[in-house]
Amino acid sequence: MNLHISQKASSISPSATLTIDAKFKSMKAEGIDVVGFGAGEPDFDTPQHIKDAAIKAINDGFTKYTPASGMLELKKAICEKFKRDNALDYTPANIVVSNGAKHSLVNAFSAICDPGDEVIIPAPYWVSYPEMVKLADAVPVIIETREEDHFKFTVEELHEVVTEKTRAIVLNSPSNPTGMVYTKEELRKIADYAVEKNLYIVSDEIYESLIYDGEESVSIASFNDRIKDLTIVVNGVSKTYAMTGWRIGYTASNEAIAKVMSNVQSHATSNPNSIAQVAAIEALRGPMDTVWEMKKAFKERRDHMVKRVNEIEGVSCKMPQGAFYIMMNIEKLLNKEYYGVFVKDSDAFCTLLLEKGKLALVPGSGFGAPNFVRWSYATSMENIDEGLNRLEKFITNQL
Ligand SMILES: Cc1ncc(COP(=O)(O)O)c(C=O)c1O
Repeated sequence: MNLHISQKASSISPSATLTIDAKFKSMKAEGIDVVGFGAGEPDFDTPQHIKDAAIKAINDGFTKYTPASGMLELKKAICEKFKRDNALDYTPANIVVSNGAKHSLVNAFSAICDPGDEVIIPAPYWVSYPEMVKLADAVPVIIETREEDHFKFTVEELHEVVTEKTRAIVLNSPSNPTGMVYTKEELRKIADYAVEKNLYIVSDEIYESLIYDGEESVSIASFNDRIKDLTIVVNGVSKTYAMTGWRIGYTASNEAIAKVMSNVQSHATSNPNSIAQVAAIEALRGPMDTVWEMKKAFKERRDHMVKRVNEIEGVSCKMPQGAFYIMMNIEKLLNKEYYGVFVKDSDAFCTLLLEKGKLALVPGSGFGAPNFVRWSYATSMENIDEGLNRLEKFITNQL
C-alpha cells in the first residue's frame, strides 16, 4: 500500500538516547551481560512520602479531570517553589502544568513560533530541542561551542547568528549532555542581549537542583521584569525527585503566553495525570532530605567517573558542574580500526562498543557533538567501574 506520511513528521529524527536505551534493554532482556549508561533518569526510587500522597489521592477518589493546565493547588506550590528557590514572583495565572518538561517545551515553542522563525540552540544540545523546534514549524539555528570553553557560548557568538527571523534562544543550565552551568554574570549578559533584541529565552532548568561544588542556581528570568516577561522557565519534578515516570513538568511565563499554552494543551492532552499532580504538590512542599542524599551520591559518582575517564589513554572529559552526565572526548579514538571494523564517528564507535564491548553509551552525534560520547552517572558505583573497565578493554583491543 502507498501510505502518505507527512513531510514534517518524517523529518523528525528518533531520540538517540531512547534508541540506545531500547537496544540496551532488549539485549538485557535476551540475557546478555550488558552495562548501560544511556538513561537520563535517576536510578533512585521516588521518595516514600511522595508515593504515599499519590496512594492517598487514589483512595480519596481523586481520579477525575482537573483543569487542563493543572490544579490550582499545584500551581500555588509551583509559585512557592519559584519564590523560595529562584526569588521569582509568579501567580497561578503564569503557570502551566504539563505531561513532563518535554511537553512543556513543546507547548512553549508552539506558543511563540510562527513558520520560518529561527530558534537558537547551543550545541552540544539535548537531543529533543531541534526536533521540537521543527515540530513548531520553526528553524533550529545551532551555535557551536567548544570543550575548552566548557561548552558555553558568548554574547558575541550569539550576535553572529541572530537575524531578523530570530525568535528565541534555548538555554539549558545545568546542561544535558555537558553538565555545564552558566554563571550569574554570564546569564546576565545573555539576558541583557535578549532584552535589547527582544528575543524570547526558553530556559530549561530541569537540572537546577543538581549543581555541585557550591555553584548557585540562578534563573535567567530573575534579573528584571523585562527579561522575566521574555523568558519561559521550564522545570519539572522528574530529575529532582526521581519522578521521571510520573510525567509532571511546568512552565512559568508571561500570562499571555501561559494562556496560549494552556489553550493548546487543552486540545492536545487536557490535564496531566491527576494523581501525579497531587504527588508533585507533596514533592514541592515536602521534606528535601532524600533529594540532598541523591545529590550527594551523584557528586561522588561524578568525581570518581571524571577521575577514571581522565586516567584512560585516548579519552578525556571536563569536570561537569551539574546534572548527571559526562561528555567524553573520543576524537583520538576515531578513524581507527577495532576488531576489524573501521570506526569513523561516535555512532560507529557506540554501535561497536555495544555489540563487542557490551557497553551502552550514547553517541554525541545526536547532541550535535560527533567527537564525543555521553555517559550518565545515574547508576551505581559498581556499574560505573564495570563500564569503565569494559571501555578500557575495548579500546585496547583486549576483547
Ligand atoms: C534537558 C532536559 N530537559 C527536559 C527533559 C524532560 O524531562 P521530563 O521527564 O520532565 O519530560 C529532559 C529529560 O531527559 C532533559 O534532559
